[in-house]
Amino acid sequence: MTAEIIIAPSILAADFARLGEEVAAIDAAGADWIHCDVMDGHFVPNISYGADVIKAIRPLTKRVFDVHLMIAPTDPHLEAFAKAGADVITVHAEAGPHLDRSLQAIRALGKKAGVSLCPATPEAAIEYVLDRLDLVLVMTVNPGFGGQSFLDSQVEKIRRIRSMIGDRPIRLEVDGGITRDNAAAVAAAGADTLVAGSAVFRGKSAADYAANIAAIRVAAESGRVVKFQDNSARAMRTAESALIR
Ligand code: DX5
Ligand code: ZN
Repeated sequence: MTAEIIIAPSILAADFARLGEEVAAIDAAGADWIHCDVMDGHFVPNISYGADVIKAIRPLTKRVFDVHLMIAPTDPHLEAFAKAGADVITVHAEAGPHLDRSLQAIRALGKKAGVSLCPATPEAAIEYVLDRLDLVLVMTVNPGFGGQSFLDSQVEKIRRIRSMIGDRPIRLEVDGGITRDNAAAVAAAGADTLVAGSAVFRGKSAADYAANIAAIRVAAESGRVVKFQDNSARAMRTAESALIR
């Protein structure tokens, strides 16, 4: 199954003094989703922002809010992020002992459920929760900071997870060091949802942001390999219609 490419700028790279304007600017620039990186200074070595900030910017755009929780524990905070307006809530497989329970809790809140894997975590960590997932996020840097360099070691993991997903309606997202130069490689490996912070917020104006988003999208589309893992066109259409858009 191939789904349309989604570009999700991370507002971690925005000018926080003008956060509302920055969200409006990436919306106008063609961002498909808004990626929100929540860091707690415990699970990752940096602190970013929490549910109140997400709630404040939620009215500024209709785009999907893709909330990436780099916090531990996660379960006590899921409801706050759901109420703040998250559409997709992604937890880290490494953040707690009960991933299956966390994923059930996210869906019980009426939200799409994602799981993220740090670079050192093997894909086997999600083998038994695949049917509870709407999204898998492969970290292509160690989580905690924007502006780091892409880890080539993760391309093979993307390929393996694409194969594990099969025809399930699960988005495969990559996050960390994504640029117009590596977007083709991750898309060729099977990623359909690309987060980018520094590579989108480079420049100053909405016009710069639009050019940056377009360049990443064009590169990703050029790298796509269409692989049909299920010969039934009807099954593919059904699965596609269930994907987050
Ligand atoms: C890292 C975050 C990423 C990061 C991406 O912990 O999850 O979303 O902000 O930023 P760039 O694209 O600059 O690596
Ligand atoms: Zn992220």
